[in-house]
Amino acid sequence: LEGLQTKRMGQHIVHLKVVDSTNVVAAKLADEGEPEGTLVISDQQTGGKGRRGRPWFSPPGTGIWMSLVLRPQLPMAHAPQLTLVAAVAVSQALTEVTGSQAGIKWPNDILFDDRKCCGILTEMNMESEEITSVILGIGINVNQVRSDFPEEIQGIATSLREITGHPIPRASVVQRILEKFETLYDQYVENGSFACIRDQWKKQSITLGRHVSAATSRGIITGVAVDIDEMGALVVETEQGQQKVYSADIQVS
Ligand code: BTN
Repeated sequence: LEGLQTKRMGQHIVHLKVVDSTNVVAAKLADEGEPEGTLVISDQQTGGKGRRGRPWFSPPGTGIWMSLVLRPQLPMAHAPQLTLVAAVAVSQALTEVTGSQAGIKWPNDILFDDRKCCGILTEMNMESEEITSVILGIGINVNQVRSDFPEEIQGIATSLREITGHPIPRASVVQRILEKFETLYDQYVENGSFACIRDQWKKQSITLGRHVSAATSRGIITGVAVDIDEMGALVVETEQGQQKVYSADIQVS
């Protein structure tokens, strides 16, 4: 990445051809003491992981499959907010790269026209209640065409190439994401609160104002998403009043 304008993010890059999951490799490197900002990126993943144990389709050469090692000084309860901070950075970067507005579907998807082109999977390493590292995994469909996607996701997935109508060099996307993310991450960690990112999150959101259905551990919460709180929870106006969703997969309609 020539001319990368960051202090830490992506200053050490481990580039692999094929790997099971970049999150797994990054976690191992983090355990071995790799510093914050180390980037693991692979041309292909054979066991790409999505949220909730789902697989993440990661064919060779067409996407960005990458993981960053982070070492935030944060209480454990704040770790999910890193996904939100990353989503803002990716959404801003992809909007700039494509010239089309990308949007965040809470908590971790980046969409164009309601089709997903990027997912984020954050995993934590802990030692006696302390975060030792967080692995921020980002998967972006860049140069796939519709028929490259498995049939079952053809109706819901998209790529940057589909959005712009032409192939996009992956390195330029990676670089922009690293630069955006470092700025937001530093701001967030210094502040110690998601509150300082909240306005930017709202600007990139396609979730607020929409009807959502969230499968939570307390059951299904449905209503209109009206806000995001200072912890990053989604505030949903339901028939029983406002309810907060801290962790869930949501459907937006
Ligand atoms: C999701 O939307 O369910 C999250 C998808 C995260 C995929 C990325 S690709 C790079 C990193 N390595 C993995 O195994 N998963 C993440």
